[in-house]
Amino acid sequence: MLETNFLIIGSGAAGLTLAVKLATEFPKKKITVVTKAHQSESNTKYAQGGVAAVFDLKEDSFQKHIEDTLIAGDGLCDKTVVEMVIKEGPKRLRELMDWGAKFDTDADGELTLGREGGHSKFRVIHHKDTTGNEIERTLLERVNQLPNITLLPHHFAIDLITEHHFSEERTENLSCYGAYVLDQISENIFTIKADCTTLASGGMGQVYGHTTNPAVATGDGIAMAYRAKARIQNMEFIQFHPTALYDGNNGASFLISEAVRGFGAFLRNKKGERFMLEYDERGELASRDIVSRAIDSEMKKSGDDCVFLDCTHLDSVDFKKHFPTIFETCLQRNINVAKDWIPVVPASHYLCGGVVVDMYGKTSVENLFACGECSCTGLHGANRLASNSLLEALVYADRIFQYLCKHKPLRTTKAIPEWNDEGTVLLKGSDVLQQKTEQLQRLMRRYAGVVRNNSDLEKASAQLEVLYFEMEALYQKHKLNTPLSELRNMVNVAHLIIQQSMNRNENCGGYFNDDYKTYITEKL
Ligand code: FAD
Ligand code: SIN
Repeated sequence: MLETNFLIIGSGAAGLTLAVKLATEFPKKKITVVTKAHQSESNTKYAQGGVAAVFDLKEDSFQKHIEDTLIAGDGLCDKTVVEMVIKEGPKRLRELMDWGAKFDTDADGELTLGREGGHSKFRVIHHKDTTGNEIERTLLERVNQLPNITLLPHHFAIDLITEHHFSEERTENLSCYGAYVLDQISENIFTIKADCTTLASGGMGQVYGHTTNPAVATGDGIAMAYRAKARIQNMEFIQFHPTALYDGNNGASFLISEAVRGFGAFLRNKKGERFMLEYDERGELASRDIVSRAIDSEMKKSGDDCVFLDCTHLDSVDFKKHFPTIFETCLQRNINVAKDWIPVVPASHYLCGGVVVDMYGKTSVENLFACGECSCTGLHGANRLASNSLLEALVYADRIFQYLCKHKPLRTTKAIPEWNDEGTVLLKGSDVLQQKTEQLQRLMRRYAGVVRNNSDLEKASAQLEVLYFEMEALYQKHKLNTPLSELRNMVNVAHLIIQQSMNRNENCGGYFNDDYKTYITEKL
């Protein structure tokens, strides 16, 4: 058993920011960060567009950023949270810059600001098209300078420890005492007992398979919190990014940043028609849900597999300067952005819901906090405004830190049992898990995608139930390993998405059900 003061699950922007702050403030306390792959692997690392924050007070204002966020959230944002996050944002970014993060500036040293869908002003600060990588680099460098942080890569948190693990008594007031963790190299499962635990475990794009998210994004934190009886909300609001590079039969994965449309790129169908203005007067810069549904509608009308992003009218030298990674990645796939249109499709990108937290990142389980993409703070409501998620991760890591400075958590005297896998055997071969994972992903794409309907959701629910029992049988009999844990978590997350979709009986933000034909634009 390992004992620590602060356990943080995840090493993206949210988890590392919290670790750095706690370690600096409490040099005598022990901070343990577990992360299930290489230390930098995370959604954060792949973030392209940037971080939305108000720096240009001549052209922009907090009020405008607040309004844009509320419009995208379609009536479901918590206004107090929106105001708090947007006003604290610039401070958190200055802090990150003080720690060494470099964002693009002009000849006078002023930050250059990009623009993305749903933003009425240029306000996205960025590092070329690799902003997330720059943030991750800065934070890891800082973490490595702080001796009281133990960062454990290739350590997979399996389950949160609550009274359910050691008490017969069924209490409503659950507390978290740490987590059971799988060392992915030795395959041993051990206990980390913690005074306070924070989920910073990111998103769940892999539940859909076709996603801009890396392989680690399997919704583990949300599934663990759900099993620990924490409140989970807004899971129906999956954000599909309109422009993931279309890769033939392999589906979509590499992201073509919305900042490219902010830079002036047009969306065209195969016939060459610039269709977005028919759906929304903001054209290519309408919010993501609208652009994704417009693309879905164009693809259904034409039967084509993708639409295209046309950058050929843009200054190619400037394009390459702003988006070097996008330019090179396209070139590797024989797409010369200066001459060729880029084939794109919508792909699952971001989860607006998650583990419900208050203004200080506290969940409904005592001593359990959550921040970043796995949490549901009230900032995004029914749809996240582009580049507001890194902002939220940075602000909420700080909010949790502020809370923990004032309310120091205590070490429990309760005896925590070790993980018990007596009677289980090793699962031989991974084919069965791979098959079931692909079955789940197909089911979610087919029945719970960009456009849903009640009959499809019923089908999804029935098929998922079968899959759940098959997975449970595997889980009961076998020693846990990474693919089995991930499948278990993705089945839990899919269940939450489907059930919460079924409970929503109106169209709102990123949720669109064909059976409720009330929506803002006539064409959609
Ligand atoms: P992550 O950065 O995803 O970190 C989660 C961490 O938890 C990872 O280290 C993971 O390995 C670990 N983990 C997960 N499960 C476990 C487990 N069971 N045990 C141990 N560790 C675990 N947002 C913006 O604001 N601006 C952008 O420009 C932008 N661009 C994006 C581009 C792409 C391609 C993608 C995928 C996302 C983008 N986003 C963007 C969204 C944004 O990157 C994420 O929402 C944000 O980085 C989430 O940060 P996080 O710290 O919450 O989670
Ligand atoms: C992008 O660069 O298009 C992604 C921005 C985001 O998800 O906020």
